[in-house]
Amino acid sequence: MNKFYFLGGRMIIEELHQHIADKNLKYWLQSFGCQMNAHDSEKIESMLEQIGYIKAQKEADANIIIYNTCCVRENAELKIYGKLGYLKTLKKKNPSLIIGLCGCMMQQDIVLNTLKEKYKFVDMIFGTYNLYKFPEILKTRLETGDPVIDIWDTHKEIDENLSSLRKYHFKACVNVTYGCNNFCTYCIVPYVRGRERSKNSEAIINEVTNLVSEGTKEIMLLGQNVNSYGKTLDPPVSFAELLEKVSTIEGLKRIRFMTSHPKDLSDELIDVMSRNKNICKSLHLPIQSGSDKILKAMNRIYTQENYLNLVKKIKSIIPDITLTTDIIVGFPGETEEDFEETLKVVKEVKYLSAFTFIYSKRTGTPASVMENQVPEEIVKKRFNKLVNVLNEISLDYMKSQVGTSVQVLFEEKSKSNAETITGRTDTGILVHAPASEDLIGNFAYVKITNAKTHYLSGEIIKEELQ
Ligand code: SAH
Ligand code: SF4
Ligand code: F3S
Repeated sequence: MNKFYFLGGRMIIEELHQHIADKNLKYWLQSFGCQMNAHDSEKIESMLEQIGYIKAQKEADANIIIYNTCCVRENAELKIYGKLGYLKTLKKKNPSLIIGLCGCMMQQDIVLNTLKEKYKFVDMIFGTYNLYKFPEILKTRLETGDPVIDIWDTHKEIDENLSSLRKYHFKACVNVTYGCNNFCTYCIVPYVRGRERSKNSEAIINEVTNLVSEGTKEIMLLGQNVNSYGKTLDPPVSFAELLEKVSTIEGLKRIRFMTSHPKDLSDELIDVMSRNKNICKSLHLPIQSGSDKILKAMNRIYTQENYLNLVKKIKSIIPDITLTTDIIVGFPGETEEDFEETLKVVKEVKYLSAFTFIYSKRTGTPASVMENQVPEEIVKKRFNKLVNVLNEISLDYMKSQVGTSVQVLFEEKSKSNAETITGRTDTGILVHAPASEDLIGNFAYVKITNAKTHYLSGEIIKEELQ
């Protein structure tokens, strides 16, 4: 029945197309969240283009503006409220402008009530579970002229396999799981994305096979915790099995995946990674904190020792692997000693890079009502110290790469230098090299001549145009 419903969605797209196409109407779509959020935006963008909207060069030129929101930290939400002030002025100048808000932030009642009360000029509000209903929501808005608010509080069985409009033709994201069951005590994601569900493995293989036949060279498999993939499928399929199947797809040059929760990373997965050349030798393995006391309070289910043993095992089997991580500073109750434990892990693991976050209180999560919230000045000090240590480690590693030759998949023109293009190694390192734009979407070997904290640069020594 639900697939039938989605077919209805296709019919609505066609109907809208008849009214919208040829009118030179422009859209502006902005993502404010993680890779999952960005990938959802690609799906909305694909629907907008199928309807007949054209991408605007500037936000102010758009006839329809959609923000795909995030609420993982408070500043993500503040950013949206800030931008809503700007949208209000745009709408005043152009009353026919259509404004839509969607994504994780919309799944919170408190946000919804604020929007209904104070931001009445917003035309469409939808959430994370009913993205595919966007054409229907837009149609209702166009026909009635009234605001449309359509939020579901849970996931329903639907065909979530919407096509997406990709920024790069040579790389693509594919969802493997949706939602999360882990309930880390600081995190709002399980409340706004719902319970974990795995996409059928055949559907994933088909999707990747199609993408590769269209020229995709690099695939990113996405989930909040990819390692728990497939447990509820019938028959169950492990993430390692899925990854191995994906790696056999002819023509697929690189496979990445994120995120890996350390508690669920299996020996089988390390084995599959070590045996298959096209699985990138980089792993994002969020530690969050190095202190056992804090890890317990966060409900992360592993200890520092478990984590370090896991890293040791991974490095012994895949010696050239690079590791990246997420770290939260200032979780309630974090003492100087707890923070020192985090620094200890950082120095021992020697991460290539890390996403570092100042703990942000999220209403509705268990941590938000914990005692001993850490004062801001102390957290900021710790945060700066952590970033400095991470940067030193990263620079040391980058310097060790000078003189080596690395294979790079070039992705885009450099933002700072018109003569230079940038890409990534298999281990995820950003590399700049002077070369023609024609190399974008292709592999080349680069001899590294210079190292900075967050990128390498060098000369192209061999191109692999294909
Ligand atoms: N599922 C992924 C990441 C989801 S959110 C995982 O478990 O790794 C991305 C990161 O945001 C988290 O890893 C965490 O470091 C950070 N984060 C989540 N909630 C936060 C909060 N309330 N305050 C600060 N950082 C937070
Ligand atoms: Fe949030 Fe934890 Fe789930 Fe990651 S694993 S999304 S941090 S609850
Ligand atoms: Fe991603 Fe933010 Fe939602 S991190 S899952 S967009 S709350």
